[in-house]
Amino acid sequence: MAEQPTPNEQKLMRLLLAERKTRAELEQRIVTQEQALFRSDVIAQQQGAQLLAQEKLASISTLAAGLAHELNTPSGFMRCNLQLMLKHWQTIREFVERTSDQPSQLAEIRKELNLDYLLEDGTDLIDESLLGINHISSIVQDLRMFAEDTADLTGIVDLKDCVEQSIWALELEGAALPALHQHLQQVPRFAGDSDKITLAIMQVLNNACQAAGPSGQVWLDLQVKFDTHIVLEIRDDGPGIAADLLNRIFDPFFTTRPVGQGRGMGLAVARMIMTQHGGGIRVKTEAGLGSKFALELPVPPLAL
Ligand SMILES: Nc1ncnc2c1ncn2[C@@H]1O[C@H](COP(=O)(O)OP(=O)(O)O)[C@@H](O)[C@H]1O
Ligand SMILES: [Mg+2]
Repeated sequence: MAEQPTPNEQKLMRLLLAERKTRAELEQRIVTQEQALFRSDVIAQQQGAQLLAQEKLASISTLAAGLAHELNTPSGFMRCNLQLMLKHWQTIREFVERTSDQPSQLAEIRKELNLDYLLEDGTDLIDESLLGINHISSIVQDLRMFAEDTADLTGIVDLKDCVEQSIWALELEGAALPALHQHLQQVPRFAGDSDKITLAIMQVLNNACQAAGPSGQVWLDLQVKFDTHIVLEIRDDGPGIAADLLNRIFDPFFTTRPVGQGRGMGLAVARMIMTQHGGGIRVKTEAGLGSKFALELPVPPLAL
């Protein structure tokens, strides 16, 4: 027969049970508070939707200003080059006209008109103009991506696949990457455009890798939060973002990178894609401590 616990043991057991119950209650209270915080954030986001129309207008004017600024430089030097080209070719025409009935003086006139230099410089001018044209084309391509309002949301998106594809794409580029720590849970699939979602993740991940640098660290966490949202957090230990820049980083053409290293379209495009899918991007950052971008989407009502 089992021995009866002594009164002291009984007291201890009661105390242990009470302590366990209190702890469970506390934990539950923390979870509830976290849920309330998360929901109030979501509500704030919904209220922000009313401001979206105004923001959109502001973005469009930023876009137009950025576009004018960006196109100004290449079209300026292309115009100069082409004007110079015209002069060169007029001289070449003169050469051809003046030498047509005097073949013996060809070499002399060629020297007098500096024809060898003109022919060589003409090629350089054309090459440079082509670079200018290519630059304009890529800006126009970026713009088209941003201006494309309609997305084909009829596909099925597996966010974990999209994250993995983004990482592969980044690795394929061959640049030295920071250490990537991945904690990717399987999350519900939803209706949308996988390629676009992958593109959005790539923009944010690329920024995180650039901020952390090859010797830094980037953490990727994919999970469902509070049963309501699919959340992909991309965190880096880079320099963070100064408070006065924070409300500009999603503007088209806003960049702090040196000329030629960023066109400032990454976050604008990423946000647009997430919005098209009924979600959004939130950012938390602290100067010197790094940044965390959360890409959020609602859990679909029906499993796909
Ligand atoms: N993880 C990050 N850490 C620090 N700064 C960031 C981060 N992500 C974005 N930024 C800032 O936001 C700006 C805009 O980013 P983005 O739209 O991707 O354009 P781009 O990368 O071409 O500059 C960057 O130039 C940078 O200043
Ligand atoms: Mg970028």
